[in-house]
Amino acid sequence: AEAGRTAVASQAPGAYRARRLRTTPGLRAMVRETHLSPDDFIYPLFVTHGQGVRRPVRSMPGVAQLSVDQAVREAEAVAREGIPAVLLFGIPAHKDPVGEENFAPDGIVQQAVRAIKAAVPELVVVTDVCLCEYTDHGHCGLLNQGDRPEARPHPHLEEGYVLNDETLPILGRVAVSHAEAGADIVAPSGMMDGMVQALRQALDEHDFSHIPIMSYAVKYASSYYGPFREAAEGAPKFGDRRTHQMDPANAREALREAALDVAEGADFLMVKPALAYLDVIHRLRTHFPQLPLVAYNVSGEYAMVKAAAANGWLDERSVVLETLTGIKRAGADLIITYHARDAVRWLSEGG
Ligand code: PBG
Ligand code: ZN
Repeated sequence: AEAGRTAVASQAPGAYRARRLRTTPGLRAMVRETHLSPDDFIYPLFVTHGQGVRRPVRSMPGVAQLSVDQAVREAEAVAREGIPAVLLFGIPAHKDPVGEENFAPDGIVQQAVRAIKAAVPELVVVTDVCLCEYTDHGHCGLLNQGDRPEARPHPHLEEGYVLNDETLPILGRVAVSHAEAGADIVAPSGMMDGMVQALRQALDEHDFSHIPIMSYAVKYASSYYGPFREAAEGAPKFGDRRTHQMDPANAREALREAALDVAEGADFLMVKPALAYLDVIHRLRTHFPQLPLVAYNVSGEYAMVKAAAANGWLDERSVVLETLTGIKRAGADLIITYHARDAVRWLSEGG
């Protein structure tokens, strides 16, 4: 005891002692800087044709492909739990080179939007706008191949290259079709240049100037999307997405990407994935303080936690809440996460 007193006395009077504010749970709660709440979350749903279908996704325990009736039940539960929004991905009945079901009035996403908005009007429905789940080749745009007039071959681009400007009108059509079905927000995820402008123009021309665009502005060519491609059945049949998604090594380029989307009229910015890119989230928060910032806690990030938890190697509850807090602390206003429903339950139980 004598030795301890000596050590205290050796500190300058008034010295900062960091542990003072950590002594009790009450004190820690008073000085906590970051708080998670249910309205931080957006919950993804995978919608498939059929009735009464709940088809579990092997690599994403707790996630299933749902038929529209089941998606409606899920949406009702999500809304009851206080989560403000769902993000819809569709698994079409048929795939073709253009992805016709993507803009069909009775397409799977259009059906799901109508049913969810009818059952839970207050729930915000966001729809993913891309081609990869709908095309037979699994790419996010039309391909440079010689056999179809709508995909004119470019002599200087290799066979199979994802064509940019030829894809834009299709994205516009998809967004309008989702808006007609009742979507509240459209979220283009294909990383085509000019996609935000193309959506804005198409929506405005069809009397949907009130529909916001949540742009996947900064989306990296990531290996963390692996489980999602099983869930959404949207893996590319050949090649990869590195000619349009960003190089994981680049952060300054993210500012340029984001600035472009802001100029084109994006209403939300997004960084995806989240965990390996917390520095990018922080940079966007700092450089674009005017726009709401979304982080996508992607399928591979979810699968890693689930796998470790299933083995008893991590405590799922505390790891998930720590992770989501970290994403918010880095600067995200909203988090798209497959953990959303569990997180809300754990938060209501006191974190
Ligand atoms: C499709 C899309 C992907 C994800 C969201 N939209 C996959 C991809 O780009 O290959 C990934 C989501 C996740 O991994 O949870 N454009
Ligand atoms: Zn895509």
